[in-house]
Amino acid sequence: MALERKKLFIKTYGCQMNVYDSERMRDVLAPLGYEPSDMPDDADLVILNTCHIREKAAEKVYSELGRLRPLKEGKSETASPMTIAVAGCVAQAEGEEIMRRAPVVDLVVGPQTYHKLPELIAQTHRARGERLETEFEPVAKFDALAGDRQVEGYSAFLTVQEGCDKFCTFCVVPYTRGAEWSRPVDQIVAEARQLAAKGVREITLLGQNVNAYHGEPPSGREADGPWGLGRLLRHLALIGGLDRIRYTTSHPNDMDDELIAAHGDLDALMPYLHLPVQSCSDKVLKAMNRRHTFEDYALLIERIRAARPDIAISGDFIVGFPGETDADFEATLQGVREINYASAFSFKYSRRPGTPGAALPMQVPEEVSSQRLAALQALLESQQTDFNRQQIGRRLPVLFERAGREPGQLHGRSPYLQAIHCDAPSGLIGQIAEVEIAGATRNSLTGKLAEKAGAA
Ligand code: 5AD
Ligand code: SF4
Repeated sequence: MALERKKLFIKTYGCQMNVYDSERMRDVLAPLGYEPSDMPDDADLVILNTCHIREKAAEKVYSELGRLRPLKEGKSETASPMTIAVAGCVAQAEGEEIMRRAPVVDLVVGPQTYHKLPELIAQTHRARGERLETEFEPVAKFDALAGDRQVEGYSAFLTVQEGCDKFCTFCVVPYTRGAEWSRPVDQIVAEARQLAAKGVREITLLGQNVNAYHGEPPSGREADGPWGLGRLLRHLALIGGLDRIRYTTSHPNDMDDELIAAHGDLDALMPYLHLPVQSCSDKVLKAMNRRHTFEDYALLIERIRAARPDIAISGDFIVGFPGETDADFEATLQGVREINYASAFSFKYSRRPGTPGAALPMQVPEEVSSQRLAALQALLESQQTDFNRQQIGRRLPVLFERAGREPGQLHGRSPYLQAIHCDAPSGLIGQIAEVEIAGATRNSLTGKLAEKAGAA
């Protein structure tokens, strides 16, 4: 009997880890006849893959559920009713509350139980009602998701590590994603090979604390003990066809010598590093439980730049952490001037119930945080623009990913993760070609294809 075709709409919030998880959910549901749709309207199954990192992100799920309600009600009497599932970190953190606040939800699945989706959906269909599945079982999750991956495009994410043991006092991740856990090397290599065989040229290794990676060594190398990220990168760089490797997100304290050396040694490892510092005031860093000073961070960046002089540094910042004074904020601006970022993300502190930061006295008033954020962003944006302008006149290898906005144009990425718009034939999609950079704005570069050396 032919499989009944059903439509699946997944909306993804938050970090790249969720993007990866959404792709894998799509993969486990494909054998059941679910085909991706880019609209919820006629979907048989809607999954909201949620983010809990800041209050605003978490609240978005409730407004989306409000929008979905009439759609679901409209389909309730039809032959194909809509099933709504909430996945991701809000599901993990607020499972029971979601069910209470939003009866429109049929199913709540935490980040470690996606492999059980087919079974959970079948159960929901048998008996519409509450289904909560939010256990921590990363081992089972990745074993079950080890199957075939559908890939679109030439750049793919690959989760190698999940969870975090750092307990920064502002952060929900240790609670929503659980303890640090690394996938075995063999499993990662198999997935990377599969991606390369499907034409992927660039992989980004993902983990909440990716450089704390310590995975089981490949079979036959058990005596080595766990492999760190530097070792894993060296191994992955040998896979033919994978021309570009990246990783994100890292903690400064886990940048070990082997990983720094890999930046100097591996052509495939792109010269771009996202290394959040959050604040450049030692007092605030201590209150955040970051376990390093700004000087530790600055010296580390110096060592990384010594290994790979052209590396572009990116970061994350939080302003308005409890107790942050004008002087602390000034220290952050000064630190940003000293490091000089190629790109960065910055946020107003968001008080997250259950984290130690939420209980701290001296919460910073909203207006003060807003002013600080504006000042910090102005500085970071000017650094990003400067960094982009410095590329003018250079030749950069660009991985062309898809058609651009203008006819005849392609969109690609530089080694520094800059967006590139360039006139180029569509046959170059999926290829890496040299582009002479001619223009730069804060968000992208433009240029023209470089003449091949030796061409007439
Ligand atoms: N408030 C604001 N920003 C936060 N981040 C994490 N938790 C919070 C919070 N409670 C930011 C950090 C982190 C990034 C992913 O999100 O900068 O690096
Ligand atoms: Fe959160 Fe990153 Fe700190 Fe872990 S290291 S607690 S994920 S900010």
